[in-house]
Amino acid sequence: MSHTLIQRMCEAVRSGEKMVLGDLNAFIDGVARRTLPVELIEVWLKCVHSHGISVEETTALTAGMMNSGAVLTWRGDSNVCDKHSTGGVGDKMSLILAPALAACGVRVPMLAGRGLGHTGGTIDKLESIPGFNCNLSPEKMSKTVESVGCCIAAQNDSIAPADGLLYAIRDVTDTVDSIPLITASIVSKKAAEGLNALVLDVKCGRAAFMKTEHDAVQLAESMVRTANGLGIKTIAQVTDMNEPIGTHIGNALEVTGSILVLQGHGSGDTRELVMLQGGQLLHLTGKTATLEEGKSRIARVLDNGQALETFVKMCVQQGTEIAVATKLALDPESVLPKSQRSTEFLSSQSGFVQSIDAMALAEVARELGAGRFSMEDEILHAVGFILTARKNEAITAGDKWITVHHEEPLSSEHITKLNHALRISDQKSAPFRRLIRTVDESEQ
Ligand code: URA
Repeated sequence: MSHTLIQRMCEAVRSGEKMVLGDLNAFIDGVARRTLPVELIEVWLKCVHSHGISVEETTALTAGMMNSGAVLTWRGDSNVCDKHSTGGVGDKMSLILAPALAACGVRVPMLAGRGLGHTGGTIDKLESIPGFNCNLSPEKMSKTVESVGCCIAAQNDSIAPADGLLYAIRDVTDTVDSIPLITASIVSKKAAEGLNALVLDVKCGRAAFMKTEHDAVQLAESMVRTANGLGIKTIAQVTDMNEPIGTHIGNALEVTGSILVLQGHGSGDTRELVMLQGGQLLHLTGKTATLEEGKSRIARVLDNGQALETFVKMCVQQGTEIAVATKLALDPESVLPKSQRSTEFLSSQSGFVQSIDAMALAEVARELGAGRFSMEDEILHAVGFILTARKNEAITAGDKWITVHHEEPLSSEHITKLNHALRISDQKSAPFRRLIRTVDESEQ
């Protein structure tokens, strides 16, 4: 029975004919209930990985995966929104964006992941805050959002359970890098949040999963079409991931970097990206008439303390003691874990910073314990970097450009890699632009 189903589905995929919707739904049901043999799931995944499927089929697969578990529903205004990032280095946007949007009056029931490969994960960052609990049931997510305006919870098996197994099988069968499978995996989980609007940050460059603009745009188009097909107003922003984002990299350090921005200062690069994503969501939900107005609203709640106040409320609702959350907002370093060692690196040349290699920093951070190589690895929350140099800024030989926070002594390979990560030139390069392009349905 299962054999015939998979055979029929694979024949349709190979010949480019449309799969029967009933077959697709029976497949997802078998995956979610764990009744379909793993070998058969592998056969179908490999077939889709090799031949691809249509946008309509991707949308049907995504809808089926979304409906394989709980789907959050919301009363009142159609103002429920979220963003997804395909993963970057120093990408701490969610920690700032969720409370900033909530402070602007929209609701954000954010599901987030742990670090993947060389990229950091929102949940690992939040778990460096004492008491913060990311394991929320769908009911607890709804309650937190209705009282605070936002929550950030770890993906779990009550939401889109079909994805949990499909992702695990893709991971071991080398079928992760398939645009329809990535689309269904990401969009099904976001759609299960019951969203009205979604912004996708599709990273592109050496330190991103999508190395070229062409591949990033293809993924962006697929996700935008699918999410819009499910009734979610969606726009993708394709952004540069060659240079690290902001000044702080690493789990606890990114919490500090986020709080600095929530205090109304911090890294300008990080603030700009939060304004861009948040402004877009305020515009998509109809809270503001234009993107520019949306960006100004986000800037206002960062400057007047309302976003920080919401962040503190979210921490308290998710388990952090009030006194700890309040102290965290005022002086994050007094609350967050600190590394045993720190080492400063100095520039060996004078000139202009041509680039800081985000991938090299991510690889060193992961090896020092900020990321995992296998699911059982423990994260060292205090490990990471604080950057004092920025692309295109002048630098003098002997100036500090990065401080490494670490637990174990640095190896000579790490020292060499970090020294090579800073490139200096005699001349300034063209101004750096994080946003490469926007993809919306009208363009496709
Ligand atoms: N993140 C996901 O959740 N799924 C993918 O397939 C890739 C990245």
